Amino acid sequence: MRGKFLSFEGGDGAGKSTQIGLLFEALQRSNITPVVTREPGGTPLSEDIRHWVLHETAAISAPTEALLIFAARAQHTEEVIEPALEAGQWVLCDRYTDASYAYQGGGRGVPFEVIQSLEAIATQGLKPDLTFFLDLSVEVGVRRTGGRSDVQDRFEAEEKEFKARVRSAYQQIAEKNPHRVETLDGDQPKEELCAQIKTLVRRRFGVAID
Ligand code: TYD
Repeated sequence: MRGKFLSFEGGDGAGKSTQIGLLFEALQRSNITPVVTREPGGTPLSEDIRHWVLHETAAISAPTEALLIFAARAQHTEEVIEPALEAGQWVLCDRYTDASYAYQGGGRGVPFEVIQSLEAIATQGLKPDLTFFLDLSVEVGVRRTGGRSDVQDRFEAEEKEFKARVRSAYQQIAEKNPHRVETLDGDQPKEELCAQIKTLVRRRFGVAID
């Protein structure tokens, strides 16, 4: 049987990595060992692209950024995600294509149709079975990732207006895809958030996780 593909989305500082780690442990206790991966990244080439996209100091145009991210996604999908799903493994992915609609589309203003075309090429129609959108106000997100500007990546360093556009794009994606995307409050204790995620996974896939 084909594996399940779960993605985690949200603004910076929403706590995706923590929740992925907690769900990984819960699944493992039930003898499901998922592949944990991230975007941009997840293969050696895609991780190199991630480095450019997050830390390049020279200017990157919006279309270039989108093309780089989708190049990383194409390689990651073909080399890691699809083979794992075909082999029956679960995949927990820290961001997937929704992030491009939110950041490159909402944030940078790349037209929706352009992103749609890139998606068709890079993912060949693959969509997560379930997406958790950890929603968080821009203010709380900034407070969590704030810190020193010299350790922030190109997106964390963006102005609040950019982050507000990203959040609103994610909210629209969730509204348009109610069967795939579950919106959860990212500003609550991690244990409560984890309990909600586990309940949804149990309900959706019929697995017994504690
Ligand atoms: P993030 O997932 O937040 O990782 P970390 O927790 O290590 O900071 O960082 C990835 C950044 O890349 C994030 O700020 C959003 C951005 N991004 C895009 O702009 N488009 C995309 O399609 C993806 C996957 C990520």
